[in-house]
Amino acid sequence: MASDKIIEARNLKYRYPDGTIGVENVDFELWRGERVVIIGPNGSGKSTLLLIIGGLISPTEGSIKFFGKEKIEPYELRRKVGILLQNPDDVLFNPTVREDLEFGPAQIEMPEEEFKQILHAVTQMLHIEHLLDKPPFRLSEGQKQKAAFGCVLTMKPEVLLLDEPFSAVDIETKLSMIRHLNELNRQGVTIVVTAHDISVVPLIADRVYLLNKHVVAVGKTREILTNVELLRKNGLDAPPFVEFALKLGLNPLPLTVDEAVRSVRKLIESGGKEKEEEANESD
Ligand SMILES: Nc1ncnc2c1ncn2[C@@H]1O[C@H](COP(=O)(O)OP(=O)(O)OP(=O)(O)O)[C@@H](O)[C@H]1O
Ligand SMILES: [Mg+2]
Repeated sequence: MASDKIIEARNLKYRYPDGTIGVENVDFELWRGERVVIIGPNGSGKSTLLLIIGGLISPTEGSIKFFGKEKIEPYELRRKVGILLQNPDDVLFNPTVREDLEFGPAQIEMPEEEFKQILHAVTQMLHIEHLLDKPPFRLSEGQKQKAAFGCVLTMKPEVLLLDEPFSAVDIETKLSMIRHLNELNRQGVTIVVTAHDISVVPLIADRVYLLNKHVVAVGKTREILTNVELLRKNGLDAPPFVEFALKLGLNPLPLTVDEAVRSVRKLIESGGKEKEEEANESD
């Protein structure tokens, strides 16, 4: 169904005013209910691509359809698609965090009761209740990132585009954000995240785009994250467990701690027989 395709972009190119190429030859598709992660080294165009698919900048070349439409009203786009920019200072501009969180919902005239509920849920999840009356410029970097993320969530968008949402937050917050995003996804929210930190990718992605100005590879999370050579060639490390598992000869390659534990157990239970020869050869 056309409406299940949220974004369809073909041959995107973006050239910044100083001539720098942000991205080029990029095809990008997003289907309703997906969790997609865009990975790539610094300067590979992740933020540029997110700004294009968030409708905040128009591509220099190429075409993009939102919800199957060649042209979409800015209001409809802003209502449906929430975007978290990489720099929280670009988002927080009111005298207090509370006013920043109120700003978007007020623009769309969200009913008071609905806003109170979402504000409560979001501030609890992010542990920012005690920051509500502070000016954003007095927050730490991680606190700013949480407040900016809160601003996106309080709008209850059906599509979330998040640029490096975990880069400054502590591990407890990161895991809480991931749990919350996965819960939203189960409720039908479509999610795109950019990330440097490969270890979070298996926890939050069905599909992965590997970007290096153009799309180097796109595929299921396992397929991309176990291609160690391709990742290295593009300035990225495979998840730690993949390298560990490759050395142990585990099959299938685990992407997370839980998967690694299961694979190692299986290997121990089998007596590691099929691996003995290989181990002897490499001694
Ligand atoms: N406002 C700008 N003006 C000129 N060039 C820019 C601008 N913003 C980004 N670029 C350039 O565009 C390219 C892509 O940058 P982009 O910020 O999209 O990369 P990124 O993958 O998000 O990097 P990072 O991992 O550091 O966040 C880089 O070469 C960068 O220098
Ligand atoms: Mg970026």
